[in-house]
Amino acid sequence: MDIRLLRASDIPLIQHANLENLPENYFLKYYLYHALSWPQLSFVAVDASRPPKTPYDYPKIVGYVLAKMEEEPADGVQHGHITSLSVMRTHRRLGIAEKLMRQSQLAMVETFGAHYVSLHVRVSNKAAIHLYRDTLGFKTEKTESKYYADGEDAYCMKLDLDFIREQLREQEDQSEEAVGEGSSSKKSGDGEGAEKKNTGGEAVDEGEAVGDVGRDPAKGGSKGEQKIKVKVGRALGVGELVEKVESKHS
Ligand code: ACO
Repeated sequence: MDIRLLRASDIPLIQHANLENLPENYFLKYYLYHALSWPQLSFVAVDASRPPKTPYDYPKIVGYVLAKMEEEPADGVQHGHITSLSVMRTHRRLGIAEKLMRQSQLAMVETFGAHYVSLHVRVSNKAAIHLYRDTLGFKTEKTESKYYADGEDAYCMKLDLDFIREQLREQEDQSEEAVGEGSSSKKSGDGEGAEKKNTGGEAVDEGEAVGDVGRDPAKGGSKGEQKIKVKVGRALGVGELVEKVESKHS
């Protein structure tokens, strides 16, 4: 199962899923409004075992979360809102809704610095209440009387997202430490190598020097040691390494 960001081309499919699974339905433009205004926050679950066979086939979308940021929060606190969530009957109780929700919550914090996320759920919706309250840790703020068109009440639920901010900070600290350790051990490695050469220790496996190539500059006397900076492994966060230039540079 792939969980990925909602694309505009998925919208008819998630509208279909919404019509199948929930009595709260929306115009197509409302989905588009979410996708265009907060493209980082809505996700779909795609059945990867049934990939499209031709470019004209649709992906098999089995769940979605449609989310947004509250544009004018009444309490003045930046927060996200889950507009709609559903998983197709055939794919329920596999942890898909939980994953969709967690992805969206993370994106709310990472992208918009959300402090909490809110949602409404029918008081009779046991499956969703279990997911929100027991699995994800939402708290019921209040009950909104006759919130739904058919007169049913809604629980207005809220989840504080500070724990995600904390996790992100810890991860950042850990990766900074790892980079720090990596560069200091790299430096000491370079130092050892340089020391070995400068003390005149011939590397047994280097073979005979041919011309200037491979000649130990420390022994060459007048030329001295030249160094250039070579960028390597940027994607790995290795940064800059210093390499010894043993051939003559003009
Ligand atoms: N009864 C009790 N608990 C349930 C049920 C159920 N019918 N279904 C799932 N759960 C529990 C799971 O056991 C799991 O609990 P655990 O963490 O203790 O193991 C937890 O809920 C999460 O389960 P998932 O597998 O992630 O949930 P799933 O993918 O099945 O989707 C959902 C749950 C979205 C509520 C699904 O049942 C559904 O689509 N229902 C119809 C649409 C709907 O009600 N959407 C929510 C409306 S509210 C809103 O949109 C803001």
